[in-house]
Amino acid sequence: MAVSEQSVLKDGLGRELHDLRISVTDRCNFRCVYCMPKEHFGPGYKFLAKKELLSFEEIERLVRLFAGIGVRKIRITGGEPLVRKELEKLIERIVLVDGIDDISLTTNASLITPRRAQSLRSAGLGRINVSLDALDDETFKAVNDVGVSVQKVLDGIDAAADAGFESIKVNMVVKKGLNDHCVLPMARYFHDTPRILRFIEFMDVGNTNRWDDSAVMTSAEIAEVIHAEMPIEPIEPNYQGEVAKRWRYLDGGGEIGIISSVSQPFCGDCSRARLSVVGKLYTCLFAADGYDLMSPIRAGESDDQLLERITGRWRSRRDRYSETRTVESVLRPKVEMSHIGG
Ligand code: GTP
Ligand code: 5AD
Ligand code: SF4
Ligand code: SF4
Repeated sequence: MAVSEQSVLKDGLGRELHDLRISVTDRCNFRCVYCMPKEHFGPGYKFLAKKELLSFEEIERLVRLFAGIGVRKIRITGGEPLVRKELEKLIERIVLVDGIDDISLTTNASLITPRRAQSLRSAGLGRINVSLDALDDETFKAVNDVGVSVQKVLDGIDAAADAGFESIKVNMVVKKGLNDHCVLPMARYFHDTPRILRFIEFMDVGNTNRWDDSAVMTSAEIAEVIHAEMPIEPIEPNYQGEVAKRWRYLDGGGEIGIISSVSQPFCGDCSRARLSVVGKLYTCLFAADGYDLMSPIRAGESDDQLLERITGRWRSRRDRYSETRTVESVLRPKVEMSHIGG
């Protein structure tokens, strides 16, 4: 049956809802300086107890409801999602939900052993995006701040590829003065491989990462550095609303992506909702607070009641933070990356 224009759910700026990003844990075995800096996420930091997290049953129920109103893509995030026990069981549940045709995971890959990769694949996970910010241990350890080596992550990527994951993207957050000297080495390393390397402008997510726009290497600067050595040209997006702008090497060495939330925001097409680790619905990565869905679930609300809450929230959405970022907005209270997963 054709869905009439009338029944398509749109937000206050006419944007549809297609993607749901779900954070399954606030914990991570890394302390990346731009995400979970040690001075804030140190030994005294109180992580959430299991009962404070959405259970797999609750997440599955919400995925079903979201799928019923147009969500097709699910991305599992954290913190580091692989530290959540038995994550495969959640994936197995999501795979069975009608309407979901893309399930992916964003991970630091340090916990992907060959066995783990196989079990994720068997559970039905479709795609993996791996964060890797440098190729030399000195810089990478300065980023992750827990002494994990580059090889550990490269081994995780290899294990995922060996298990049959075809689409493995590599995400590099670029922060000036930290790892901007690694842009070219990373580009050279992944040039002519099946991996798609994506450069991400350092963003002012949360309030603890001491963001400053002077530390942002812009997408234009990134493209220029790469183009000078390995010429690239822009290519069409895979679909409307794709976060990364695609470029391809003129010599046939594959493609790269650049995610420019700061210098060239992409809010106009933003079709993403986010479910935080405590079951709050966020309609923007930079929101101060989310809309509590866990309490109504645990109070026994029906599917219809929950749906009404979700659709009402999407209809009234007018978020476009990156397009309106100002010196003042950067300082406003915002949800931390480790609760919302990027
Ligand atoms: P694909 O489906 O493979 O394209 O994944 P993705 O790029 O949407 O997800 P991933 O988790 O790999 O995120 C890459 C980077 O894009 C991270 O730094 C995210 O925080 C950022 N990102 C994803 N969605 C948004 C968004 O809606 N707004 C902003 N500002 N950044 C986003
Ligand atoms: N700016 C840009 N990207 C970030 N990520 C984490 N913190 C930031 C930030 N401040 C990235 C991670 C991961 C993805 C989910 O978000 O490296 O690839
Ligand atoms: Fe962990 Fe990813 Fe944040 Fe680094 S960026 S601290 S790996 S959640
Ligand atoms: Fe979407 Fe907010 Fe990111 Fe803009 S800043 S693309 S509205 S999540």
